[in-house]
Amino acid sequence: MIIPERMSVYINSLDVGNGAFLDELEQEALRDDVPIIRQDMQSFLKVLLAMHQPKQILEVGTAVGFSALLMAANTEMCHITTIEKYEKRIPVAKENFQKSGMGHRITLLEGDALAIMQELTGTYDMIFMDAAKGQYIHFLPDALRLLRTGGILISDNVLQDGDIIESHYAVERRNRTIYRRMREYLYVLKHTDGLLTSIVPVEDGAAVTVKQKEAIVLPKA
Ligand SMILES: C[S@@+](CC[C@H](N)C(=O)[O-])C[C@H]1O[C@@H](n2cnc3c(N)ncnc32)[C@H](O)[C@@H]1O
Repeated sequence: MIIPERMSVYINSLDVGNGAFLDELEQEALRDDVPIIRQDMQSFLKVLLAMHQPKQILEVGTAVGFSALLMAANTEMCHITTIEKYEKRIPVAKENFQKSGMGHRITLLEGDALAIMQELTGTYDMIFMDAAKGQYIHFLPDALRLLRTGGILISDNVLQDGDIIESHYAVERRNRTIYRRMREYLYVLKHTDGLLTSIVPVEDGAAVTVKQKEAIVLPKA
C-alpha cells in the first residue's frame, strides 16, 4: 500500500459502485484473483473519461474485461480496443463483453501487446496501460505514435507497492529489472519535451501523461 490502509478504506467506503453487472464482475474477478483496477483507480479513471471524452481508447492489458467495460459504460460513442495475451483470460473477457450488451463497442486483440501495437495504425484519444510493468518502457514508442496530440496516456501501477523509492539493494532481486525499467519509464515521462506527466498516488500509483506535441523524441535506449 502506498497510502495508509485506513485512508484507502475510507476513500473506498464513499464509493457508489458501477451498477449491478460491473459490481458482480468485479467481485467475481477478486474471488478468482484476477488483478483488476480497484475502486479508487476506477473513480479516477471515470473522472478522466468525463473530462477528456475520448472516442477511441486503446487498453493494454484486458484481463477479464472489467476496466474495458468500465470505460465503455462511462463513455458515449466511444470504441475501445483492448489487448490481452493470456489465453485463459481471453474467452472469459469475450464472454463478459458479450453478456454486457456493450460488446459491439469493444475489440479484443489477442496476443503480445508489443507485437500488436507495432502493427496498429489507428489514432487514439486515450491509452490505458495496465499490463506487464517491466514492458511499459518498451510499449512507450508505439503508444506515443498511436496517441493523438492532446491525447492522454494513463499508466497504472507505476509505484510498485512503494518499491520505486527504495534503493536498488533493498528491492528483492527478482523485482530489480522491473524496478529499474519503471524508474526509467517515469523519468522519461517527466523529462521528455512534449510530454506533460503527473504521477498520482492513487491505488498503486498512476501516471497521467498529456502528449502536447506531434513529434516526440524519446531518449535512445
Ligand atoms: C492488471 S491486468 C489488467 C486488468 C484490467 N485492465 C482491469 O483492470 O480489468 C494485466 C493483464 O495484462 C496482460 N498482459 C501482461 N503483459 C502483456 C503483454 N505483453 N501483452 C498483452 N497482455 C499482457 C496480463 O495477462 C493481464 O491479464
